[in-house]
Amino acid sequence: MPADNVRLDDPLRPRFHFLPPKNWMNDPNGLIQWQGRYHLFYQHNPHAAVWGDIHWGHAVSDDLVHWEHLPIALAPTPNSPDARGVWSGCIVDNNGVATAIYTGVTGEKHEKQVVCIATSTDDDLIKWEKYAQNPVQMEIPAHLTKAGFRDPYVWWHEGQWKMVIGAGALGGAEHVLLYTSDDLYQWEYIDILFSSENQNEHVYECPNFFKLGNKWVLMVSVMEELHVDVFVGLFWQNHFIPETYTRIGKDGSFFAPLTFEDDDHRRIMIGWIREQRSIPQHQAAGWAGVMSTPIEMMLLDNNQLALTPVHEMLNSDLATSYRQFTDVSPENLADLQATLPSNRLKVVVSDDLSKVIFIDGSVVEYFNFPEYHVRRIYDRVADLTVLADLDILPQKRLGVWTMPNTLT
Ligand code: FRU
Repeated sequence: MPADNVRLDDPLRPRFHFLPPKNWMNDPNGLIQWQGRYHLFYQHNPHAAVWGDIHWGHAVSDDLVHWEHLPIALAPTPNSPDARGVWSGCIVDNNGVATAIYTGVTGEKHEKQVVCIATSTDDDLIKWEKYAQNPVQMEIPAHLTKAGFRDPYVWWHEGQWKMVIGAGALGGAEHVLLYTSDDLYQWEYIDILFSSENQNEHVYECPNFFKLGNKWVLMVSVMEELHVDVFVGLFWQNHFIPETYTRIGKDGSFFAPLTFEDDDHRRIMIGWIREQRSIPQHQAAGWAGVMSTPIEMMLLDNNQLALTPVHEMLNSDLATSYRQFTDVSPENLADLQATLPSNRLKVVVSDDLSKVIFIDGSVVEYFNFPEYHVRRIYDRVADLTVLADLDILPQKRLGVWTMPNTLT
């Protein structure tokens, strides 16, 4: 189905959440603040509203709210290690050179998964050059290679590069492997950082590993159940020891989040909000996949994780037409929606900001401090059920902002 069928007035298509101009999107990739501007790359099929032929799409923002679409950054190269897809990865600043470390795939079933590198040659990260000697040589313990090896996440730590990458073992557990490097191009295998208790032959997808406060956070996307586990714990002798954990996206709506640290030292997460409808419906709509609101991650005193919208999402210039409603209840919600200029652009905030609700087309995000929930609504009749299920209703003294279209 040609994607020119995207209807911009599609009431289910979000406006202020990021999504490509058309067609398929899944994981965020290569999040980085580069020369002051925020760059978002993403898994993208430029040819259809279904998963396949994965490229890296690209967008840029000054404030994490208004995004500008840029040309596709990375495409599969025929007869190369990424001929069947440029899969997920990250970008780091290697002494002033933006360096993407991503998963290249080949094979009939995308089963050959390797680590590849590309560097950008311009300030706006528009032009990319792939490393001539891709793939990077990685030692892989023999018993771990069968079920997948993907989604490298790299950071600078105590004078060395470190990488975590998702892996799995045939007949075994989901793993996160740890590597180190002095130059980003030659990697040494260190150990298994962390393994699941499940023996399900799956791969831990999109691992993120970073320091938050005085703890370490390991975040993994669990393929089988389509949710995200965020563990808080200790990084000790090349192993991660979890102490507590939080699960995000229990109904499969939220997956493959990626985090980065911005210039203000905020730890910011963006995740992929998955569709919950059928492939023919994606094709008919011409689009599939949305990014979450950028979320700031913090650790509370009791080491519990707190997830809040970045303050830019709540700032006053977005609140162009603020309306205060009191006593929002299942009975009057429909009236309230009818009074808004567009029933798809809403932000509802309690006075103390501990409850923030974004309803944007088919996306409902609910920040109920310190938690984050997301749901999809494709059927207006289902609105109230979903909101009630999230325990949003009834809420007293809610403010409602309607928002302008923020995508340029
Ligand atoms: C997660 C994932 C990654 C992979 C990418 C392919 O959603 O399956 O593991 O790199 O998507 O698009």
